[in-house]
Amino acid sequence: MKIIRDPQETQQLGLFWNSQGLKVGLVPTMGYLHDGHLSLIDEAKKRCDRVFVSIFVNPTQFGPNEDLDRYPRDFARDEALCEEHGVDAVFYPTPESMYAPDFSTWVHEDSLSQTLCGASRPVHFRGVTTVVTKLFNITQCRLAVFGKKDAQQALIICRMVRDLNLPVEIVMAPLVREADGLALSSRNKFLSADEHQRALALSRAVREVERLYGAGERSAEKLLAAARVILEPSGGRIDYVEMMARDNLRPLATLDRPALFALAVFFGQTRLIDNCFLG
Ligand code: PAJ
Repeated sequence: MKIIRDPQETQQLGLFWNSQGLKVGLVPTMGYLHDGHLSLIDEAKKRCDRVFVSIFVNPTQFGPNEDLDRYPRDFARDEALCEEHGVDAVFYPTPESMYAPDFSTWVHEDSLSQTLCGASRPVHFRGVTTVVTKLFNITQCRLAVFGKKDAQQALIICRMVRDLNLPVEIVMAPLVREADGLALSSRNKFLSADEHQRALALSRAVREVERLYGAGERSAEKLLAAARVILEPSGGRIDYVEMMARDNLRPLATLDRPALFALAVFFGQTRLIDNCFLG
């Protein structure tokens, strides 16, 4: 397995593989890999001849008061996990090699980025769409795998690929959970044992909404009220609990078309998200 820090050298490898007729896949990550990331890598391996994993804690997607500096990192462990899962090359750039001091060109999705996490994290998705475009160009991938854990992010990337005619197929992989239901996240390591227990309210709320929807409930107000009944006793600070139309990520009153139920809750400093698609 190759580890390449230089963007240009990575691009040369991507171009070379493409010239050999090999299908090149990419799994973009910020590292501190867990089973959720690894499931994406396994998916890419199934569908591609060569797989890049990028490991880059992208500074432009963090707001000024967010956790960029304390975001967990462990490259040696990530490297071993990538090797175990048959990754062909890890792209592990420095921030300086990704962003020139006078960097000034952004990719900005203007509609889906405005609600949910975009409302509470104003620069976040602009940073994501910009770095993902750079990663597509650098690796020359023709397929990239994103997790449904970050459902809004995946939908925005699909929109960007369509709108800008990027030659990359996007695969959305299932959300992976711990045995107790908590959605796997690199940020879970910040939770105390007590916060972890209380954070199980997120997945319980998701399961309850799925159950009620399965039983025929179609009122967003009723589904959201049921979720809040589960979330409020957890003592977490709710950032949002929303029912959105899947196609435009605007609030939906009646679930007469595909929907996304999504929530974000703070436990201490740690912000957790969870979601499910309905219909
Ligand atoms: P990161 O949070 O490291 O996540 C990388 C990929 O792993 C994303 O596609 C995310 O949805 C997926 N993922 C994370 N937890 C998951 C889980 N429990 N189950 C399934 N998939 C999961 O998302 C980012 O990094 C960044 O925004 C990035 C796209 C790399 C751009 O910087």
